[in-house]
Amino acid sequence: MEQIIILDFGSQYTQVIARRIRECQVFSQILRYDTLAEKLAELKPSGIILSGGPCSVYDKKAPHCDTGIWKLGVPILGICYGMQLMAHQLGGKVQPGGKREYGPAEIDIAKDTTLFREMAYEQQVWMSHGDKVTKLPAGFITVAKSQNSPYAAIANNKRRLYGLQFHPEVHHTPNGKQIISNFVHGICGCGRNWTMKSFIENSIEEIRARVGKDKVVLGLSGGVDSSVAAALIHKAIGDQLICVFVNNGVLRKGEAESVQRVFGEHLKMKLVYTDATRIFLSKLRGVTNPERKRKIIGRTFVEVFDKAAHKAGKAKFLAQGTTYPDVIESVPIAGNPAAMIKSHHNVGGLPKRMKLELLEPLRQLFKDEVREVGTQLGLPKEIVWRQPFPGPGLAVRILGEVNREHITVLQNADWIVIEEMKKADLYYKIWQTFAVLLPVKSVGVMGDERTYENAIAIRAVDSVDGMTADWVRLPYDLLARLSTRIINEVKGVNRVCLDISSKPPATIEWE
Ligand code: XMP
Repeated sequence: MEQIIILDFGSQYTQVIARRIRECQVFSQILRYDTLAEKLAELKPSGIILSGGPCSVYDKKAPHCDTGIWKLGVPILGICYGMQLMAHQLGGKVQPGGKREYGPAEIDIAKDTTLFREMAYEQQVWMSHGDKVTKLPAGFITVAKSQNSPYAAIANNKRRLYGLQFHPEVHHTPNGKQIISNFVHGICGCGRNWTMKSFIENSIEEIRARVGKDKVVLGLSGGVDSSVAAALIHKAIGDQLICVFVNNGVLRKGEAESVQRVFGEHLKMKLVYTDATRIFLSKLRGVTNPERKRKIIGRTFVEVFDKAAHKAGKAKFLAQGTTYPDVIESVPIAGNPAAMIKSHHNVGGLPKRMKLELLEPLRQLFKDEVREVGTQLGLPKEIVWRQPFPGPGLAVRILGEVNREHITVLQNADWIVIEEMKKADLYYKIWQTFAVLLPVKSVGVMGDERTYENAIAIRAVDSVDGMTADWVRLPYDLLARLSTRIINEVKGVNRVCLDISSKPPATIEWE
C-alpha cells in the first residue's frame, strides 16, 4: 500500500500530521525518529516527513535520524525541528534560538515550487520555533521568506528534499492542507487510495484469511471502538464471532437493554449477555478509594469475561477495538506531551490469561476513521457518535461507596442530563456531559418538608482527545432545566451544582 512515513521527533502535532495526510486519502504511519533507514526502505514509503520536536539540534540528547535516509531517494519534508535537522545533517547551519518565534506569521512565496502549487504568493502560517536555519546546505534554495525567517521554506528540487520552518498541519495555517496535499500528491506521486470503503474491503479479506474456520470472542462494551470492531468482524465472519457483553452493574440507565437490542436483535450478532451486577457490587461494598475501585472492576471484569467466553465456545482469537493512538509508541524525549498520555486498558490482562491470539482490526485507524467505518457498516448514530464512557463506568462518578441506591440515583440524574443535552442539540457536539454523585448531604425544603439529601454535580467538557479539556459554558436556561428536572424527578437529590474546572489541573472524571 502507498504510504507516507512520519518520523516522530516528539512534536505535540505529530498525530495531526498523520491525520492531515490521511485526509488526503493517503495512508500514513508514525514511526520513531531513530527508525533505521534499512527498515524504512523495506516499507517502501512514497515519502517521509520529519516532524517537529521540542529539542534543539545542538542539545546533547537531541533526537537525530539515521543519516541513511538522505540516500533513500524518496521525497522528504522536514517540518520545523525536522527542517533544522535536515539542514544540520546535510551541511547547513542552524543557529541556536535567541528569541522564540511563536504565533501567526506571513510568508511570501519566493519561487515556484510544487510544494506551493495552486497557492497565492502571500500566505498566513503558524510559527513555533526557537532555533533557525542560517545557512542552507548545498543544492538548496529558499522558496519562501517571512519577516523573521529568510528561510521560511527551503527546497532541493533535484533531490526532492523540502523544509518548512512553520507548521502546515495546524489549523492556524489556513492553507496548510494544500501544502501537505501538494507534497503527498504532487511531489510523492501518491494516489487517493486510503478510503474507509477500501479499508473495510481489505479488512474483511484479511480477517477471513486469518481466522479461517476458527472462532473469535470479543468483549463488547457498547462504546464506539468495540462496537465498530464487532460490526467489521461480524461482516467478515458472521456467527464465528461471539460477542460477550458484561453488565458490571455500573452502566448507564438502559444501556444493557440497548446493547442487546442493537447488536443481538438488529444486527443479529451472536451475543452472550452476562449480568454480573451482584458479583461486582459485592466486591465494591465499602470501597471508597478511587484506585481500588478501578482495580476491583478491572480484575472482576477479566474473571467474569473469561468464564463467559469459555462457556460460549472454544475461541482461538480475542478481538479488541484497539485504535491507532493506543498503538503509537511515544518517543522518550523530555517535554514530549505524548509521552505522558494516561492509558486506560479496560481489558488489560485478558489476552495473556486467556492464551488467545489478538485480532485488532482497527489498529491503524484514528477515531474519526473508526466512526466513518461504523457509519459505513450501518451502526446507528447513537453508537457511532456517543460520548466516551469510562470502563469503570458510573463507579468513578459515584464518590464514596458504590451501592445500588447510589447507582440508581446517578443513573436517573445521568439520564436526564443526556436527554436534555440531546433536546438542546448539544449532546453530539460536546466531548462529554454527565452527572456526578457527591458524597455530601445538604438541607433543602420540598413542599412543607425539610429534606436532607444528596448533591449532583454536572460536568460538561470540551476536548479533542481527552488529554486537556475546558468546561463548557452551557446556556443558563439549559442549566435551569437540568437542575429543576433532576431535583424534581430524581428521588434522593435536592441540590445541583456545576463543575467549572478545566483539565489540567482537574481531570475530566472525578475519580
Ligand atoms: P480523565 O478523568 O483522566 O479522563 O481526565 C480522560 C478521558 O478518559 C476517560 N476515562 C476512561 N476511559 N477507561 C476508559 O476507557 C477508564 O478507566 C477511564 N478513565 C477515564 C474519561 O471519560 C475521559 O474521556
